[in-house]
Amino acid sequence: MNVNKAVAMHAIQIARHGGPEVLSVREVPQPTPGADEVLIRTVASSLNPVDWKTRAWEVGPELPATLGWDLAGVVIATNHPGYRPGDQVIAMSAQIATGRGTWAEQVALPARLLAPAPTTVALADAAALPLAGVTALQALNLAAVTAGDHVLITGAAGGVGGIAVQLARRAGATVDALVSRPEHLDAARELGAEHVWHTLADLPRHTHTAVLDTVGIDASLALAPGGRYVSIADHPLPDIPGAAKSYVQEDQDHLAQLAALVDSGELRLRIAHRYPFHEVRAAHERFEAGGVLGKILLTF
Ligand SMILES: NC(=O)c1ccc[n+]([C@@H]2O[C@H](COP(=O)([O-])OP(=O)(O)OC[C@H]3O[C@@H](n4cnc5c(N)ncnc54)[C@H](OP(=O)(O)O)[C@@H]3O)[C@@H](O)[C@H]2O)c1
Repeated sequence: MNVNKAVAMHAIQIARHGGPEVLSVREVPQPTPGADEVLIRTVASSLNPVDWKTRAWEVGPELPATLGWDLAGVVIATNHPGYRPGDQVIAMSAQIATGRGTWAEQVALPARLLAPAPTTVALADAAALPLAGVTALQALNLAAVTAGDHVLITGAAGGVGGIAVQLARRAGATVDALVSRPEHLDAARELGAEHVWHTLADLPRHTHTAVLDTVGIDASLALAPGGRYVSIADHPLPDIPGAAKSYVQEDQDHLAQLAALVDSGELRLRIAHRYPFHEVRAAHERFEAGGVLGKILLTF
């Protein structure tokens, strides 16, 4: 590739789909922010399942493509009056639809994707928030979870589930949880879950007014008559009335709400591992091995 070295930077790209070996750190031109865009120096991103799926499956934008949805970083140039160089920001970029990946040393994004980073945690740690947080918030909104609800959250030790447990509790609901393994029971309790199980067959029957499934299992037996069932998983929904899927949407107001909850101490971010970006293959291998309690960060 003919890259002007004076303005080159590194990005994590794939040129074909496959295992972690298709991830490579490539030298690419520094992006130029367009109208209403902001250029950000990336401090950290995080791994989400969509990243390994986009890597492994025949989905996503044309290749080669830069991966990554989450961003925590510092503004270095701006074409939008709402931002100034030095501002610390977070963003969620729907890479699979737009091709705007965040796994690069510098990223140009529309200003409408940005929110101020929380100020009470390290900027890198804020990269754990965007995709998982916005997904959890929007799925609970779709399930209309409010005070008095009795909510079951599956995959409660995971990225989305771990935030959803905290948000549902904050909304005034009683929250129960299903996790994948006995060693994750305590983690779900620490996030605010009351009853926690690790086996689907152990769930009580017809007890919960709302279910949020982040796993792709049929937990509908736990749903009380008339309850709401929302799934974010790829799998088909159970065949029950009113079951719905939630698909995350870019939304800076939701991001800002979540950052404010981090700063008020009402939302705890859990970081499991940190990998320098050039160790992205190892980060993917760790993520896909499962059993991670908290997010895996990529630092730049
Ligand atoms: N629709 C959307 O807009 C949207 C947005 C974001 C994410 N998603 C999807 O939602 C899913 C969850 O995302 P995430 O970021 O939370 O992933 P994650 O961080 O990998 O968490 C998934 C959690 O589910 C647990 N789990 C797996 N099988 C389970 C089972 N049978 N019972 C209970 N828990 C189980 C996993 O445990 P182990 O690690 O032990 O397996 C893990 O703790 C992914 O498929 C992702 O692609 C969809």
